[in-house]
Amino acid sequence: MREGKTILEMKKITKSFPGVRALKEVDLALRAGEVHCLVGENGAGKSTLIKIMTGAHTMTSGEMLVNGTPQVLTSPLDGRELGIRAIYQELDLLPTLSVAENIFMEDVPKTKLGLVDWPKMNRKAAELLQMFHVEISPYSLIRDLTVAEQQIVAIVKALSQDSKVLIMDEPSAVLTGSELERLFGIIAELKKQGVAIVYITHRLIEVFEIGDIVTVLRDGENIVTKDIEDVTMEKMIQWMVGREIDEQFYKEKVAIGDVVLEAKNLSVEGMVKEASFELREGEILGLAGLVGAGRTELLKSIFGEYRLNSGTLTIFGEECRFNSPRDAIAKGLGFVPEDRKTEGAVLCRSIEENISLGVLAKKEFKFLVHFPTIFKKAVELANYVKIRCHSLRQEVVTLSGGNQQKTVLAKWLASESQILLLDEPTRGIDVGSKLEFYKFMAELVRNGKSIILVSSELPELMALSDRILVMSNSRIRKEFRAGEATQEQILEHAIPQELREAASS
Ligand SMILES: Nc1ncnc2c1ncn2[C@@H]1O[C@H](COP(=O)(O)OP(=O)(O)OP(=O)(O)O)[C@@H](O)[C@H]1O
Ligand SMILES: [Mg+2]
Repeated sequence: MREGKTILEMKKITKSFPGVRALKEVDLALRAGEVHCLVGENGAGKSTLIKIMTGAHTMTSGEMLVNGTPQVLTSPLDGRELGIRAIYQELDLLPTLSVAENIFMEDVPKTKLGLVDWPKMNRKAAELLQMFHVEISPYSLIRDLTVAEQQIVAIVKALSQDSKVLIMDEPSAVLTGSELERLFGIIAELKKQGVAIVYITHRLIEVFEIGDIVTVLRDGENIVTKDIEDVTMEKMIQWMVGREIDEQFYKEKVAIGDVVLEAKNLSVEGMVKEASFELREGEILGLAGLVGAGRTELLKSIFGEYRLNSGTLTIFGEECRFNSPRDAIAKGLGFVPEDRKTEGAVLCRSIEENISLGVLAKKEFKFLVHFPTIFKKAVELANYVKIRCHSLRQEVVTLSGGNQQKTVLAKWLASESQILLLDEPTRGIDVGSKLEFYKFMAELVRNGKSIILVSSELPELMALSDRILVMSNSRIRKEFRAGEATQEQILEHAIPQELREAASS
């Protein structure tokens, strides 16, 4: 069946970091025109493996062959020279440079005189961005873009040069609906051109949508490599976690109490328009919408990151005007941001210290802090969300992507906030840990806390929420009760009016 020529071959790859063996004698072969999916739990070794392919990490032992020739890569430059390119999980864009500058950073278009050809660079960037039909200006600074837009820029950057092997580490984590479809369209196109593609994802359904072959890593070992036709979802999950998982979601019936938060006509210039809703004790309120619908912005305006232009916010019966997140935290609010890298964790500090920051956040008298108690709490929470590490003293930067996300979660859970605003909390988290997290959410609301949940995974949102608000174009368009709406109905309200009109005319 498989005809593509083997482009890249990894043989018995082992990689050790201080205190941990991330990969153990892993074999992997990539063929031209094939999408090779790589799945496994958080910390299984996926990112480490692909970083060895690109030259970003050096292997401890093993061999890598490119077109049959053994190659020793000592830096990403070597990988690039061989046509191996990657879109990493932690995007490697420079926040203070423009979109176009980032895309062409490694291959700047020059004029005949050898100067940077700015018009050409911006024009080419705009052309490339067109593939996604998104309104991202080549002149915008990266730091002004949303996470999803940054992801698109990173993809476009990788596509701006020809590659023989293209590696994508969870590109779909932040994309939804139409952008994801376009990404899949682009992947199909690259396949036709004979590019070998590695695709890492925790949205396992995607493996069946675009994969030709799948490799499951567990504890740094290749458990199985199989053609997609010979794999089922149940089997794949079992290979990943090493046991059977029978339920996907978890939700308890909890008594819903009084209103704890009431928003009336909240507006923030250009971001949120007249949002009105209530949140009750013990309730999980879901926020549905497409990328850019204004869900994150709504959370941030409640959390005091944006100043309200108008409207009122009443929390526990008291009208609040927050000047900063600090005020919101003091009032019992907690926020798990979607961008864990820049907003969530202090990467250069230990897991223990990061989680403890959450405990500290709610302390009014900092000098009364009892550190042993705080660290004990940190250990409990780290175990709870199953952060996979060899020590809690480990720096967060050395954790796998999913485990960094879990650290941010634990930090906010430690703060014992009464009202939690969760922005895509399960992004990048593996199936087994997701289930643990759902159980933890159930425990929180059982204890009288309230949650506003933003999630682009509609099945997740529908299974966990008591009510769902659907947003588009910065406005709340519709409210559904639990079990009342189908995925199609939610999407219908999530797609902006203009687009629907355009589609029907
Ligand atoms: N720079 C580093 N220093 C020390 N340990 C590291 C470093 N990078 C990764 N590790 C460890 O190697 C192991 C594998 O991590 P890796 O990032 O490859 O996991 P992953 O499969 O990509 O997980 P995720 O799904 O969470 O992204 C983990 O135990 C991680 O803590
Ligand atoms: Mg990873």
